[in-house]
Amino acid sequence: MIGIIFGPPGSGKGTQAKRLEEELRIHHLSTGAILRGEVARRTALGEEVGRVMATGDLVPDALIVDVVKARLPEAEEGAGALLDGFPRTVTQARALDAMLADEGHTITFVVALEVPEQALIGRLLHRAELEGRTDDTREVISERMREYHKLTEAVLEHYRNQGVPITVVDGTGTPDDVFARIHAALTGISSE
Ligand code: AP5
Ligand code: MG
Repeated sequence: MIGIIFGPPGSGKGTQAKRLEEELRIHHLSTGAILRGEVARRTALGEEVGRVMATGDLVPDALIVDVVKARLPEAEEGAGALLDGFPRTVTQARALDAMLADEGHTITFVVALEVPEQALIGRLLHRAELEGRTDDTREVISERMREYHKLTEAVLEHYRNQGVPITVVDGTGTPDDVFARIHAALTGISSE
């Protein structure tokens, strides 16, 4: 199983992925978390991406594709992988398609979370107070939203054109509410 949890910054991808990981026993692969780990450890990759991430822009496609290529085979072992934060451009989606085609795999589902922008901003500013993620400032959040609309939204269209099952889920309410909606939607897909 290869799932994608999709949505704008703050829509709850990480929160819901953690729950899905437990529920479906699939491996959660978050490119944002991987990159933040590289920045924290001051690796060569971290030095390269840290500045870009701090502005809210996306890191170069070639770089992130290499990161996923290196980790995907292990993540796919067992029940499969849940991708969070990747693919984020149509170029990345095509690269993923090629990686999966090489293995004879396809994407099983896409869950797309929808949350109004004002609520997203509120969540991220609240997280800034709790966790201090460096990209959770008003200015950087705006840039992340711009990048999402400019480059990432089109990924959904890419998969729609391919006939991949896409479930659009209302991401408002409590994390439990959202998880219940995702769970119901995925049960529908697996019983089709
Ligand atoms: P990434 O880490 O992927 O960040 P993001 O997409 O901006 O999303 P977030 O992680 O902020 O939000 P989320 O949707 O996971 O929501 P969460 O569950 O945390 O990327 C960061 C950066 O890395 C990018 O800007 C880019 O530079 C780089 N990058 C990463 N991948 C890349 C790629 N493929 N290509 C190029 N560059 C890449 O929830 C948010 C907050 O809301 C939390 O505090 C949470 O507790 C709270 N919350 C969650 N659900 C609810 C709810 N239902 N009600 C109220 N609060 C909630
Ligand atoms: Mg996240």
